[in-house]
Order: sequence, then C-alpha cells, then structure tokens
Amino acid sequence: MDWDRFEDKFLREKGRDKGAEQRKIEKEVFDEFTADTVWKLARRGHLDFLGGVVSTGKEANVFKGWDREGNVRAYKIYRIETSNFQSMWDYIEGDKRFERVRPVKRHIVLAWCQKELKNLQTSHRAGCRVPEPFFSLNNILIMQFIGNEFGAPLLKDVELDEPSQVYRLVAEDMKKLHKAGIVHADLSEFNVLWWQEKPWMIDIGQGVPLSHPKADQFLRRDCENVEKYFKKLGVKAEGLYEEITG
Ligand SMILES: Nc1ncnc2c1ncn2[C@@H]1O[C@H](COP(=O)(O)OP(=O)(O)OP(=O)(O)O)[C@@H](O)[C@H]1O
Ligand SMILES: [Mg+2]
Repeated sequence: MDWDRFEDKFLREKGRDKGAEQRKIEKEVFDEFTADTVWKLARRGHLDFLGGVVSTGKEANVFKGWDREGNVRAYKIYRIETSNFQSMWDYIEGDKRFERVRPVKRHIVLAWCQKELKNLQTSHRAGCRVPEPFFSLNNILIMQFIGNEFGAPLLKDVELDEPSQVYRLVAEDMKKLHKAGIVHADLSEFNVLWWQEKPWMIDIGQGVPLSHPKADQFLRRDCENVEKYFKKLGVKAEGLYEEITG
C-alpha cells in the first residue's frame, strides 16, 4: 500500500506535526485491509479525515473524524489481529443473528463490529442514551461522537454531584435495553461516558439478545457492577436485577 498517500489523504493533521506515539498507532491500526476499508468509506462520503486517536485499546481504537459533510463522528476501528477473538466467540456463538459466522479470526471480528452496530441501533431506537449509530463497514463502526473537542470522560473519572439521580438514569436505560431484548454484558463505570450531565452507555459489541444462553448471567453481572459502583458513592443501589426483569 502507498502509506504516504494514505497518510496524506486521511491522517495528516493539517498544519501540525503529530507525535511519534500517534504515528506508531496509525501504522498498527491501518493494515492493508483496514486502509482499503477507509478508502471505501471515503468514496461513499462516510469519512473525509481522521483526527486524533481518542482511545487505544486491545480490541479497538477510537478516532475522532469527519465525514464529507463536515459532521464530526467517532470511528471505532477493530483490530483484525486482536488477541482476544476467542473470548469474542463466546458472545457470538448462541446469538441467532450471527448463526452463520464461523470461528475464524477475521470473520469473528467483522461480525463483532456488525453486532455492535446492530446493538446500538436497537438500543438507540429503544430510547437509550447511546451514541447514534450511522454506518459500519468491515471492521470500522461510525457513530455519534460523544464530547466536544475531546471525547467525554468516563463515568469512573468524574465526580458526581447527585449520584442517586445518575443511578436512576442508568437503571432506566438498562430497563429500556432489556425491554428491547438486549443485555449489554459489559456494563460498568468503565463503559459509560459522562456528557451534558448525563450518563451515555457505550461499547456494546459484546451485547447479546435475551435468547442467548448466557444472557441472564450477563445481566446479573451488569446489575452487580452498577450497584457496586453506586453503592461506593453512598447510593442505596439494590434490587436492580429484579427491577429490570420484574
Ligand atoms: N462515541 C464515542 N464518542 C466519544 N468517545 C468514545 C466513543 N466511543 C468510544 N469512545 C472512547 O473510546 C474508548 C474506547 O471505546 P470502547 O469502550 O467502545 O472500546 P473498547 O472495546 O472498550 O476498547 P478497549 O479495547 O480499550 O477496551 C472509550 O472509553 C471512550 O473514551
Ligand atoms: Mg470499553
């Protein structure tokens, strides 16, 4: 691939030299396949330019970027060579929406990205506070950017004035999600952003439908995580599972 051309078109921070760290991440993220996906998204107007890396994780990197109309978007780019595809498989096997996916690394990662898009669509339609999903192609998911110049902070990193009200908001969203037939399955203060004085659930790729054999187990764990976090803040957070399922 012509890296210089790719970088020049999509990654160069106009008028500003980016650091060595950002360069290194970019070289890792944009392998041949991913770079090709970027070109395809650009041709369809879904991506014009990627700015800074918002987050670097084991499975995905999140970039702030812009589409052709100049709308700011979050671009979550899953790594194909992810280390954790075995554990991803546990959340795909048994999900009737993805029955035809075979246990092959690339298939799993692409299905995962598709799964996050579908879960976001379902939860957004159900009225949950989640990033609005826009599009996904291969291993790239495009959604609403939560935050202003920088990404919004995680719930775990903010000091809440009214934790019991925030607990209520999270509980209400969990109920809506459950009604829509989905369990988040990795919900905690690490996967909730704090923006405009409200909690926003993110990172829902591992979410499973209620028909999944482990859905109930995952829901109980989500409830425990949420209760535990808010209890630490002095909230009387109890009976969440019963509240959601009752
Ligand atoms: N829509 C968004 N708007 C703004 N920031 C976002 C958005 N989605 C994700 N982020 C940021 O990127 C980080 C990682 O996103 P996410 O939790 O979805 O990925 P992850 O799979 O947990 O990645 P990791 O491998 O790091 O665990 C989040 O903690 C958040 O800071
Ligand atoms: Mg996360």
